[in-house]
Amino acid sequence: MSNTSQSLFDRGMKVLVEGVSSASRGPATFGGAPRYMSHGQGARLYDVDGRAYIDWMMAFGALPLGHAHPRIVETVTREVARGTHFATALEVEVEVAEMLVSLLPHVDKVRFANTGTEAAMAAFRLCRGHTGRRKIIKFEGHYHGWWDAVLVNTNPLPPTMFGHPNDPIRIPDSSGIPEEAWKDTIVVRWNDFDAIETAMRLHGAEAACVVTEGVMSNMGVIPPKPGYLKHIEDLCRKYGALFYLDETVTGFRLAAGGCAELYGLTPDIVTYGKALGGGLPMAMIGGRADVMAGLEWGKVLHFGTHNAGRLALHVTKTMLETMLENDQAGFKRIKTLGQSMAAELTRVAKTSNRHGMVVQSVNSMFQIFFTDQPEINDFRDFCTHVDRVKFRNFVLRLFDKGIYMNPSATLHSLSAIVHTEDDIKATAKAVAEVLDEMP
Ligand SMILES: Cc1ncc(COP(=O)(O)O)c(C=O)c1O
Repeated sequence: MSNTSQSLFDRGMKVLVEGVSSASRGPATFGGAPRYMSHGQGARLYDVDGRAYIDWMMAFGALPLGHAHPRIVETVTREVARGTHFATALEVEVEVAEMLVSLLPHVDKVRFANTGTEAAMAAFRLCRGHTGRRKIIKFEGHYHGWWDAVLVNTNPLPPTMFGHPNDPIRIPDSSGIPEEAWKDTIVVRWNDFDAIETAMRLHGAEAACVVTEGVMSNMGVIPPKPGYLKHIEDLCRKYGALFYLDETVTGFRLAAGGCAELYGLTPDIVTYGKALGGGLPMAMIGGRADVMAGLEWGKVLHFGTHNAGRLALHVTKTMLETMLENDQAGFKRIKTLGQSMAAELTRVAKTSNRHGMVVQSVNSMFQIFFTDQPEINDFRDFCTHVDRVKFRNFVLRLFDKGIYMNPSATLHSLSAIVHTEDDIKATAKAVAEVLDEMP
């Protein structure tokens, strides 16, 4: 542990809750002081003592271009000199919306927000306003931001608390959430064809929407079973519920068209965040014209002083242009790098098989699970079979070898266009060393 990080943590603990501003950055996740970072460049993060790390967290996926990309630096420098925020109508707002509508065939109109949580709150209200129905169907282990109605069963639980797969016990993830907030939220086991069919039979006619992550990315990386997401979409059509695909993690990550493109889906409504802003806070709600029309004239209300911030929109535009040019070379590159990283880690796992390490990935996203199972297919598998303490100890050891990942096994790692095959080799070498050193 660096001395400077430790002394900043000691100071921070006196004035910040847990010394940080989100639990995933502080002692709840790190078990003690986190590494304090001072700057980033390309694929590297540098801590306050000047140590370099290959960054595989990339601000939880917000940085497909990596740190301080010259085009982002140029954009911010140019635009900040012209004013940070006006809260007026903007040309760049129209331009970025046009880009999004032309890229995403299921999106006729968009509305900008700042964070994934905010976009989701507006989207859920819109689903209810559009359908006139109250119920929200969500899945175990899926996170859609920290809004009361959907902050249930998103944290790992002991297996005795799961309840029947077709009728999971609903457990809020926070105190301070009154039962009324989630009484209309139905929780369903994910990746289970029967469970969603049963839930729709029971609640489909009263459901405003079924919301799903395209890839389960808040329990590591768990891909959907073949045909599963389409099955949800078909059930939504059958029962008149909106199919809401939460692309906060997967949007402008797994493909230019997100999970909808990857798995051939036509969601009625989507939300984006993270990568969309290229490092600045930017999110959006998008969908079919008749659904989005619900927001007109504040019928379904969504306000925000910082909506469509001009600096963030200019960065979004630059991020999209950079990722899309040369026939979407940026998306192809992060996919190739992610797949290569996953293959290297799998190779290392096989040679150091003492620890039961399994790697799961989809394109640019990957996660390491310490488990005795050949694969992890859903929340229940994750909670029952993944050793999260071991993962944290493993990542803390990687820090000393110049590799940065988040120590929470529920999160995941990501490639950015600035990573290289050398970074992958260096990471695989460090992982092999740590596996050898670990008890
Ligand atoms: C799938 C998903 N939806 C929504 C959110 C909330 O986004 P934000 O943290 O920007 O509020 C997250 C955040 O991790 C997420 O993973």
